[in-house]
Amino acid sequence: MGTMLAVEGLTKRFGGLLANDGIDLTVGAREIVGLIGPNGAGKTTFFNCITGQMRLDEGRVTFDGRDLTNRAPEVIARAGIARTFQLVRVFREMSALDNVVVGAFLRERTRHGARARALQALKICGLAAHANLEAGTLPIALQKRIELARAVAMEPQLIVLDESLSGLTAAETREAIDVLRGLHVALLVVEHVMEVIMPLSDRVVVLDAGRRIAEGAPALIAQDPRVIEAYLGV
Ligand SMILES: Nc1ncnc2c1ncn2[C@@H]1O[C@H](COP(=O)(O)OP(=O)(O)O)[C@@H](O)[C@H]1O
Ligand SMILES: [Mg+2]
Repeated sequence: MGTMLAVEGLTKRFGGLLANDGIDLTVGAREIVGLIGPNGAGKTTFFNCITGQMRLDEGRVTFDGRDLTNRAPEVIARAGIARTFQLVRVFREMSALDNVVVGAFLRERTRHGARARALQALKICGLAAHANLEAGTLPIALQKRIELARAVAMEPQLIVLDESLSGLTAAETREAIDVLRGLHVALLVVEHVMEVIMPLSDRVVVLDAGRRIAEGAPALIAQDPRVIEAYLGV
């Protein structure tokens, strides 16, 4: 499995706070990597640095061999990395379809082409029946799915998901995991809930207080004393 995303020594400070402290992380083609850690560990910051929402202070981000360090979000999206946000960001008064059309315009010039691409993305994400409904009227689980469809419509090779599965019921979670697995693209999935990340991930990376403290197969990570300590605070 070739490396798609390679992050080396990513460091990000907020004043005196070291939010990300020299983090290394790779994601292979079609690999599903879970990034877990307690609240405040630095997961969202790491994401924001990779996707161009924040500037990193030190380190390097390459994707498919191309240096994307501190490039603009638009450049990074075009290079093939799409994201969802921790706080769901849909245009509430727009239909599910139009929300996804916004993403489809990254690769399509015409309204017609973007619409066709968006419909396809909705279908892949199990939202075909909801295409014409106003996004804001749908339950949060489906609003998160609309964000995912918007990312899919951007034809990414890697999607980074920030707590897209948090707050879902057990049944919604299982369904979402099936949808994600069916995408056949690389995923970097941020969660703090281990029960969500473990059945989904090929590999898990654990952050605590801005540092990478463990990495490995889900079953091993769940038993790692450092991870248990980070979560239980013992
Ligand atoms: N924009 C910001 N300005 C200042 N501090 C921030 C900012 N964003 C995050 N932080 C701090 O950085 C640390 C990591 O936060 P975050 O990346 O959101 O963690 P996580 O997503 O793992 O919960 C926290 O201590 C948080 O308070
Ligand atoms: Mg976060």
